[in-house]
Amino acid sequence: MSQTDPLTADLERLLTAARAARERAYAPYSRFLVGAAVLDDQGRVHAGCNVENAAYPQGVCAEAGALSAMVLAGSTHVRALVVVGAGPAWVTPCGGCRQKLREFAAPDTPVIVANEVEVQARFTLAQLLPQSFGPEHLERA
Ligand code: THU
Repeated sequence: MSQTDPLTADLERLLTAARAARERAYAPYSRFLVGAAVLDDQGRVHAGCNVENAAYPQGVCAEAGALSAMVLAGSTHVRALVVVGAGPAWVTPCGGCRQKLREFAAPDTPVIVANEVEVQARFTLAQLLPQSFGPEHLERA
């Protein structure tokens, strides 16, 4: 599988998982439901949804949940990420989640933005987080 072009079958699995996760989102404050799914280096899919909190800053993004599920399952390598929102506006990962993804993903890792019905945009992680800081910086220090 090319890093920038997930196989159609993998993309469909990611979309299905992220859309299902979005249905489980807990977002009573923003009403903005988000689902995410990551493909790991073993071909497994891990999903997450946003989970908000009455103490607003404690809310967690969908992408963070998906990454947590991946780590719990024993992987630390992301091959692709899908984020699913609703409607025409692209739900791209927030800045914090771009950095969280950077921990586990190569610069050319595809980040795919979709809604309930279609894929809307494709990026690489490096496009979304150029000149980024990552674990290898600490190895060199
Ligand atoms: N949110 C995500 O879960 N992922 C994104 O990529 C963008 C924003 C969530 C956070 C919050 O629960 C709600 O969407 C509104 O910002």
